[in-house]
Amino acid sequence: MALLFAIIVILVTTAMSLPPVIRIGAIFTEDQKDSPSELAFKYAIYKINKDKTLLANTTLVYDIQYVPKDDSFRTSKKACKQLSRSVQGIFGPSDPLLGAHIQSICEALDVPHLEARVDFEPTFKEFSINLYPSQDHLNKAFKDLMSFLNWTRVAIIYEEDYGLFKLQDLVKSPPSSRTEMYIRQAGPGSYRQVLREVRHKEIYKLIVDTDPAHMQQFFRAILQLQMNDYRYHYMFTTFDIETFDLEDFKYNSVNMTAFRLVDLEEPKVAEVLRQMERFQPIGHAILNKTGVIQAEPALVYDSVQVFAHGLAALDRSHDLRPANLSCEKEEPWDDGLSLYNYINAVRTFYDFKLSSLLAPCRLLHYAKISLRSEFYVRNRTCQCLLKVAC
Ligand SMILES: *[C@@H]1O[C@H](CO)[C@@H](O)[C@H](O)[C@H]1NC(C)=O
Ligand SMILES: *[C@@H]1O[C@H](CO)[C@@H](O)[C@H](O)[C@H]1NC(C)=O
Ligand SMILES: *[C@@H]1O[C@H](CO)[C@@H](O)[C@H](O)[C@H]1NC(C)=O
Ligand SMILES: *[C@@H]1O[C@H](CO)[C@@H](O)[C@H](O)[C@H]1NC(C)=O
Ligand SMILES: *[C@@H]1O[C@H](CO)[C@@H](O)[C@H](O)[C@H]1NC(C)=O
Ligand SMILES: *[C@@H]1O[C@H](CO)[C@@H](O)[C@H](O)[C@H]1NC(C)=O
Repeated sequence: MALLFAIIVILVTTAMSLPPVIRIGAIFTEDQKDSPSELAFKYAIYKINKDKTLLANTTLVYDIQYVPKDDSFRTSKKACKQLSRSVQGIFGPSDPLLGAHIQSICEALDVPHLEARVDFEPTFKEFSINLYPSQDHLNKAFKDLMSFLNWTRVAIIYEEDYGLFKLQDLVKSPPSSRTEMYIRQAGPGSYRQVLREVRHKEIYKLIVDTDPAHMQQFFRAILQLQMNDYRYHYMFTTFDIETFDLEDFKYNSVNMTAFRLVDLEEPKVAEVLRQMERFQPIGHAILNKTGVIQAEPALVYDSVQVFAHGLAALDRSHDLRPANLSCEKEEPWDDGLSLYNYINAVRTFYDFKLSSLLAPCRLLHYAKISLRSEFYVRNRTCQCLLKVAC
């Protein structure tokens, strides 16, 4: 009897603990080397390792791989290599197409995949935890805003080939049957021409889904065509509108509206950003400017938090046995599903309170809108959005 008791005690004490080292893989595209997103990832790991209250006896170790954009073959190979060295989760990449490839590998081998990317197919994906707001939620938010603002004649300018695909629900079922939509694809070479057409058609409400990297060129085109008076209202799909130079719009009364993901006014968020900025030598480079973080690094940071809280929850009731997996053999990881379920159950621990794990109403609640009139934001929370959503 005593022997049996001893064995049970040993089983219990050894079973319920995480291994001392947990390896996680991260994949960034080459242009993301030393980007705010990569630095946010490293900082998040550092912070969790330092905070001994969460994972007391476990250290997270990362394996970062860089991959060329548009090369899914090499990206898959790098992921397989990481999996063969027993990573217990893969983060990224944020590129929508590469991300989808890694997603299918993680799904085949039962490895949690943490991502923050635009997803074209809004279907449930096993083993994927995507913090990027779903396109459904976003389209709903745009529609709510359009009805709130009584928009009836709207131009949509999109840039990426998949842009229309993203917004198709908006186009197919606009907020009101009276809504008339004029849809054009444009890039830096054609912004001016397309904007001129919009002006010619006397459309004053625009939804702008252009590549954020070209935003200044888009702004310049607006200014050159003088489409910046009080009649115009632009709704931007980027979550980072505050990071752009809006100085040129300071003295005219054009309206600009955008959602953002991170509630910078929230005291807890501000505190996290302050700590981040103090973290030398890289802290300041994670932020865009003091007190402002772009959506992507914020999502990457939060996805590490979510992973760590999932691990901690699992630690309380399950064992975790790392395994070296092989893409050739396709034998799934035994403990992957439990870990995924624990991560997926994490709802409240993120520092930036990001959205897609939450219900749509929470998303909209944290998506602040700014209605600009004078310079900078004369922001007001759009009551109707909150009401419609919840
Ligand atoms: C961490 O390890 C110490 C010493 O081995 C042990 O006393 C403690 O309970 C462990 N903590 C957790 C959370 O497993
Ligand atoms: C939209 O139209 C309704 C009814 O015409 C009006 O009450 C409301 O104030 C308008 N909203 C805005 C933001 O202009
Ligand atoms: C721009 O904002 C001002 C003040 O908020 C408002 O009166 C005006 O109607 C808005 N214009 C457009 C085109 O939405
Ligand atoms: C801040 O954001 C803008 C636009 O998103 C970008 O062009 C700029 O490089 C960013 N600056 C830093 C320091 O990250
Ligand atoms: C995974 O492979 C490494 C060597 O590549 C080995 O040291 C380690 O023990 C293996 N882990 C497992 C769980 O098989
Ligand atoms: C935006 O609104 C919040 C309240 O929702 C307020 O605390 C903050 O000061 C406003 N920001 C600006 C720049 O007006």
